[in-house]
Amino acid sequence: MGNSNQSKNPWEDPAAAPFIRIDGLRKEFGGFPAVDGVSLDIYKGELFAILGGSGCGKSTLLRMLAGFEAPTAGRVFIDGVEMTQLPPFERPTNMMFQSYAVFPHYSVADNVAYGLKKEGVDKAEVKVRVEEMLELVQLQDFAKRKPRQLSGGQQQRVALARALVKRPKVLLLDEPLAALDKSLRERTQFELMNIQDQLGITFILVTHDQEEAMTLATRIAVMDAGRFVQVGTPTEIYEYPNSRFVADFIGTINLFRCHQRGNDGATVVACEETGVPIQADLPAALELPDAFDVAVRPEKIRLSRQAPEGEGLTVLHGMVEDLAYYGNHSLYRVRTDQGKLVQVSSQNVQRSAELALEWDEQVYLSWPKDCSVVLTQ
Ligand SMILES: Nc1ncnc2c1ncn2[C@@H]1O[C@H](COP(=O)(O)OP(=O)(O)OP(=O)(O)O)[C@@H](O)[C@H]1O
Ligand SMILES: [Mg+2]
Repeated sequence: MGNSNQSKNPWEDPAAAPFIRIDGLRKEFGGFPAVDGVSLDIYKGELFAILGGSGCGKSTLLRMLAGFEAPTAGRVFIDGVEMTQLPPFERPTNMMFQSYAVFPHYSVADNVAYGLKKEGVDKAEVKVRVEEMLELVQLQDFAKRKPRQLSGGQQQRVALARALVKRPKVLLLDEPLAALDKSLRERTQFELMNIQDQLGITFILVTHDQEEAMTLATRIAVMDAGRFVQVGTPTEIYEYPNSRFVADFIGTINLFRCHQRGNDGATVVACEETGVPIQADLPAALELPDAFDVAVRPEKIRLSRQAPEGEGLTVLHGMVEDLAYYGNHSLYRVRTDQGKLVQVSSQNVQRSAELALEWDEQVYLSWPKDCSVVLTQ
């Protein structure tokens, strides 16, 4: 019984103490709220991602956590100690800025060593720690080079090593992988996860890249116009978006506009766009506005030539308007008989695909009711 708590995620454990507590944080610039009252608990060892579009307040929030920006209101605690009024150098944080700056006249090794030397760390120890760090970011063979002799991605890793070498309790990363190409980005994502695993640092990572947040994070806060619109694990955010904004922001999704409960009350949503009722789990107590959406991910929808049968299935009929083959999966756009375009993706598991659909073919679309996500806001 005692073990059940150990596997529990700290954010699900009411007894767990948060490592970072953000309480009602707000920042106004000339009356404009860049960060509009944000509260959040982050736990030790998390790799927490803040995800949102350009200008939504991500960097401003991070800068307040690091102490580079004074909040208009609200408080920040780290490890139980209030940080709100402390300058950056008195906080157990280190920040890698969006426009990371490496010193152009210093070698890679000296760039990484800079913070330690400034702290007066003993020379021999500086050497060891710098070597350790360069190995971690796989730049050990580049130690003597100057930044201009490196690619943008390598420079970004120098900046990362420089942020990590001081072993902060909290590392704040503002778009740390933005300068990397796709494959290096993916590799560095794994490196980041390994680094975090090895050093046990708590990471807060800002990104506008939803795939990056989904891959890396223990939890994600989706931000819009200075506020958090949803906080959850990548799976929660993807499978159960709490609003049209989040559903639209993360991945591809089909939205069906609906107007009322079906006649049986509890499960069916009448939908004018599809002409047939959409099966969904609707708690009787759920207050539905006049218009709301049912969201269905493309990979939850099955295509078939024969009409499928089964309990709780929503079944639509239409014609394949567009299809694209991506090796391991195919993407279909199906125009339903009522004129609604629905996206469907299917994994190509078998080489002799049982269902190789062609353009203009008639198909049935179906999905079970637990894949219908009702969005009331
Ligand atoms: N020093 C400042 N003075 C006035 N307005 C500012 C200042 N810093 C940021 N802002 C404004 O606050 C809002 C949030 O900016 P912020 O840099 O936090 O956005 P962001 O989410 O990091 O965006 P991006 O993804 O483009 O980096 C923006 O509208 C920005 O113009
Ligand atoms: Mg920013």
